[in-house]
Amino acid sequence: MTNIEELISQARTEFAGVGDAAALEQAKARYLGKSGSLTELLKSLGKLPAEERKSAGAAINSAKEKIEAALEARRNDLRRAALESQLKAEALDITLPGRGLSSGGLHPVTRTLERIEALFRSIGFEVADGPEIEDDFHNFTALNTPENHPARSMHDTFYLENAPGLLLRTHTSPIQVRYMEAHKPPIRVIAPGRVYRVDSDATHSPMFHQVEGLWIDENVSFADLKGVFTDFLRNFFEKPDLRTRFRPSFFPFTEPSAEIDMSCVFCDEGGQPRGCRVCSHTGWLEIAGSGMVHPNVLRHVGIDSEKYIGFAFGMGPDRLTMLRYGVNDLRLFFDGDLRFLSQFR
Ligand code: PHE
Repeated sequence: MTNIEELISQARTEFAGVGDAAALEQAKARYLGKSGSLTELLKSLGKLPAEERKSAGAAINSAKEKIEAALEARRNDLRRAALESQLKAEALDITLPGRGLSSGGLHPVTRTLERIEALFRSIGFEVADGPEIEDDFHNFTALNTPENHPARSMHDTFYLENAPGLLLRTHTSPIQVRYMEAHKPPIRVIAPGRVYRVDSDATHSPMFHQVEGLWIDENVSFADLKGVFTDFLRNFFEKPDLRTRFRPSFFPFTEPSAEIDMSCVFCDEGGQPRGCRVCSHTGWLEIAGSGMVHPNVLRHVGIDSEKYIGFAFGMGPDRLTMLRYGVNDLRLFFDGDLRFLSQFR
């Protein structure tokens, strides 16, 4: 009979030597399997003389228990090792700093538009809008700019292909027309929106913003235009001593017409403006077109031009935003670069 103690230590050594659970089960079979060494020993019990059988049987059973215990211990070792290496492989570094929550913010031009709306609402103006794809009538004809009028070519219009008579509005003035078609005087309204022109450099973008203003009533004068607009700019820039200058100009839809300049926010301190790069050393910044609404415009929308009169203006909120925040390239507003935009959060 094989030395039982030897068999036990042989099994222990073999179990310790295997690298994974499958190899362990194979090793187990060599001892405890159908024709494993221990099983063979049990089978051979029958050949022993009766008086030896009992003690031999007990020895074999105790060996079997020991081998099974060694097997179980090794199974646990392997399981623990497998788990450990899995944990190591799938490790999360929970000491890494979090990514944080980034919050969005309003676009600087949107901030300006909201500020303009709030200031005009506070003096009783409504806020209106209109379509960006306009028809020829609202963008030009109704604004006293008939076909072949030279003023049309000043606008560098984007026309829509395969859609005769449709264009991208070149200014917010068509909203005046639409608003007057739908409302009776007295009318006090501003209309902010995107407008489009074939133009692109550091101070011109093919898409830019305008805010239209319109006040029509029985007794609205050019003095009201001066007062309302100057007051608006002073509030917008929080500069009570800001000054405006109305320069004679021409628009087909206003008569008389004026360009509105404001004293340079960077170099005017209430006296004689010093002149700087922003205002091209003139001390003045061009900020809007304006004038008294032409009677022909009122006639186009069915408003009695003998009874009603008023002013209109169209200003550039992109420019106002550049001046308010000290931005020197208009294109930064429309490039969508977060490094720039996130500074306004
Ligand atoms: N629509 C004109 C422009 O875009 C501006 C303007 C508006 C002028 C209203 C007078 C009155 O240049």
